[in-house]
Amino acid sequence: MLLLLLLTSAFVLVPWTGAGRIIGGWEVKRHSRPYMAYLIIENGVETSFCGGFLIRPDAVLSAAHCVDIKGKLNITVILGAHNVHGRERSQQKIRVTQWVIHPKYSREDDNNDIVLLKLKPKARINRNVQFISIPRSNEYVRIGTKCKVAGWGLTSETGNRTNVMREVELKVQNGTICQKTFQNYQRQSMICVGDDSSNKASYLGDSGGPLVCKQKAHGIVSYGPEDKLFPEVYTRISYFVPWIREQLRKFALQELPDSLSSD
Ligand SMILES: *[C@@H]1O[C@H](CO)[C@@H](O)[C@H](O)[C@H]1NC(C)=O
Ligand SMILES: *[C@@H]1O[C@H](CO)[C@@H](O)[C@H](O)[C@H]1NC(C)=O
Repeated sequence: MLLLLLLTSAFVLVPWTGAGRIIGGWEVKRHSRPYMAYLIIENGVETSFCGGFLIRPDAVLSAAHCVDIKGKLNITVILGAHNVHGRERSQQKIRVTQWVIHPKYSREDDNNDIVLLKLKPKARINRNVQFISIPRSNEYVRIGTKCKVAGWGLTSETGNRTNVMREVELKVQNGTICQKTFQNYQRQSMICVGDDSSNKASYLGDSGGPLVCKQKAHGIVSYGPEDKLFPEVYTRISYFVPWIREQLRKFALQELPDSLSSD
């Protein structure tokens, strides 16, 4: 199983050659995906990168494995970016001081690979920074639906990097295909996705980004096979909607003066 976060240390990429990147995709039109977030996760020794997406002015969703890293973490979210290394006036950089990993997240099999990051200060919503809707609880996305995933992950299996946001179109697949490849695949809480001709995929650095189907974020980039590009597993957001709503309520309570809520 290949987790799709990107560490700066080049050596970690070597045993991973063979999976998919935003491979076979294209550069998006600037600011056409204003919900996209770029996560920089530092633990003092290493820095890793992930995607994420804004679902409210004060909340970004991403993959739990992106922040399941040893040490004291410094997490920075960049919103409104096209070129993450460019000096863009559209960018909002927010230091994240609070995040909630799903209580049943499992590092061993990447079940429940979802984290909610709280933004304080909140993002300023404008033309370049906006949020995206998530599905209703148990709203299923049909097999065969064409969805898009964007990110700043590697663009080739040989480790080509990109500074600008890229995107690829992938199809929702029958879960049976993922069950055959991954022992721990869970139909309820995961979505099986990919391009069966195996020349398009999300890849290292794309973890945490949204799978967008009909203008809603239905999935979160989670993991793929180590030796090929197909199929890939995304966290199924609809399954987690009750948990997400509960966390958002807690975030809101914290903002009330003299809040009685302490967590
Ligand atoms: C990766 O980068 C190299 C050097 O810049 C380039 O020649 C090659 O075509 C790139 N490969 C892909 C798949 O983009
Ligand atoms: C998924 O594939 C299995 C096995 O090929 C098949 O029995 C099942 O009907 C398929 N499910 C859907 C919803 O197409």
